[in-house]
Amino acid sequence: MILETKRLILRPITIDDKYEVFEYRSDIETNKYQGWIPTTISDVETFIGKVSKQINEPNTWFQFIIIEKEPQKIIGDLGIHFFDNENRQAEIGCTLNKHFQNKGYATESVKSVIDYLFKGLGKHRIIASIDPENKNSIRLVERIGFRKEAHFVESLFINGKWVDDLIYAMIEKDWENLN
Ligand SMILES: CC(C)(COP(=O)(O)OP(=O)(O)OC[C@H]1O[C@@H](n2cnc3c(N)ncnc32)[C@H](O)[C@@H]1OP(=O)(O)O)[C@@H](O)C(=O)NCCC(=O)NCCS
Repeated sequence: MILETKRLILRPITIDDKYEVFEYRSDIETNKYQGWIPTTISDVETFIGKVSKQINEPNTWFQFIIIEKEPQKIIGDLGIHFFDNENRQAEIGCTLNKHFQNKGYATESVKSVIDYLFKGLGKHRIIASIDPENKNSIRLVERIGFRKEAHFVESLFINGKWVDDLIYAMIEKDWENLN
């Protein structure tokens, strides 16, 4: 599955992407709210080996690589967690190389994936799980039209400490009304 937007191409991750993915995913400051920060290329190889080769497989993560069209450069990734298919729900998470943030690329990527999940795959509800201190992510999902549904207190153990978790969600009807 390949998605194209005005400025970007989103395509499945491959093992050949490991060095570029390592470059931005190993950046501790940018990724301080993430559960996974690789310290070696081998960590990235394991990560790429674990994600599903097929999109929309129940109980797996699928990983898109985000490429800037001009020049052809890997700038980030967007993961989709497919829950039980009957449930028609999915979770998304986006990471950009810090040099490519603040250009609207995450918004452009997430919108194209949401559109595909609702219209192409018939999903009913999409969620994002966000640390309350991750202000850029909160701005991203609110800009797109996600609704804040829950604030769980110290419900996740990430990078050696208990952290709160915000759940943002959008249902298919919301997306129809926004477009
Ligand atoms: C979450 C993350 C992807 C958001 O990235 P981002 O750069 O803030 O979001 P976008 O790429 O959509 O850029 C939006 C910003 O670009 C600005 N912008 C500049 N030029 C623009 C253009 N041509 N078009 C659209 N927006 C533009 C927008 O005004 C907006 O800024 P604002 O928030 O101050 O209003 C990024 O912060 C990140 O990778 N964080 C680390 C990983 C992480 O924690 N991920 C969350 C997992 S749930």
